[in-house]
Amino acid sequence: EEYEASVTSPVNIAVIKYWGKRDSDLILPTNSSLSCTLSQDDLHTKTTIRASRLFEADRLWLNGVEEQVATSKRLSNCIAQARAFRKELETNSQVVETIATKERPLSEWKLHIISENNFPTAAGLASSASGYAALVQALANLFELTLDQTELSKISRLGSGSACRSMFGGFVEWRGGESPSGEDSYAYCVAPQSHWPSMHALVLVVSDDKKGTSSTSGMSTTVNTSTLFAERVKSIVPKRLQKIKEAILSHDFSTFAEITMQDSNQFHAVCMDTYPPIFYMNNTSKAIVHLVHLFNSQLHPETNAPKGIRAAYTFDAGPNAVIYAEEQHIKELVQLISYFFPPAKAQSFRAYFPDAYKIF
Ligand code: DP6
Repeated sequence: EEYEASVTSPVNIAVIKYWGKRDSDLILPTNSSLSCTLSQDDLHTKTTIRASRLFEADRLWLNGVEEQVATSKRLSNCIAQARAFRKELETNSQVVETIATKERPLSEWKLHIISENNFPTAAGLASSASGYAALVQALANLFELTLDQTELSKISRLGSGSACRSMFGGFVEWRGGESPSGEDSYAYCVAPQSHWPSMHALVLVVSDDKKGTSSTSGMSTTVNTSTLFAERVKSIVPKRLQKIKEAILSHDFSTFAEITMQDSNQFHAVCMDTYPPIFYMNNTSKAIVHLVHLFNSQLHPETNAPKGIRAAYTFDAGPNAVIYAEEQHIKELVQLISYFFPPAKAQSFRAYFPDAYKIF
């Protein structure tokens, strides 16, 4: 007797960065953050979970390699939390009759979990976000949990902070919250993808090497050593969040882009202000920054009028760039990027385009 659930979950790329925890067990952040969820057609994690009476232990294979579930607190926390909700369903007599959970005490059975990313793991491409989102969504489906996406986002948050935002499509905020229990720290959808369908993301894979400093350890050193960080959390992020949400709701691309670029730059400045400093961007990343500013300062050849801000870069804990732009500018951007970074000249540079630029 076996039951199985299979899901795919998308990657999300923050425009207001999450960096810093106030509780590292419950994964509660020092600030709220906001991201766009990318289309799952391009980058995703696929996770299949099987429950059986015959399994002897919970086991998980990530990209074909077994991970130790018992020693990973994050994995065990997510599984334990989902199991606890399943147990509640099984013991709640009102529900038991309707879903026949009595004969299926799934909360007591062990699980085998198979998870695959279709993109490089730990290259600053938020693999933990889609990974834990897929794990929690698959558990919820398998266990037939009666929780909404916001409640599920609290479970995936226990796996990796940014994962809570991958429980939704479109423009998503993770409300940092204040409660020590984490009850008010969850994700919700600010606007669905359909609100701004012309918004696209270009993923430029500068390097798919494993990054040097993990987000988890990097942000912990930042919290302990950076003096710029406190200022960012207290007075900068709240204003930016408010402004970027307004920009999203009113389709104001240039405000959206300016805040996105400034927040990425400040995140990397805070990394450099960390002691010892952390560097995530490399020379190719920096060249991309210059290229985007060049693109944004172009003048119209006939009228000499500025063409305006038409693209925004953002970088996470690695050298890869994500460029947000509206669909009508993507072709020109791709041409420009291919001109400056032809694959033959920059071997390390590979871009997932032209098809990987939709946001979900
Ligand atoms: C730079 O979510 O990977 O991508 O909560 O420790 O698992 P943990 O960290 P993680 O950090 C992501 C940091 C970031 C910014 C962001 O996605 O908001």
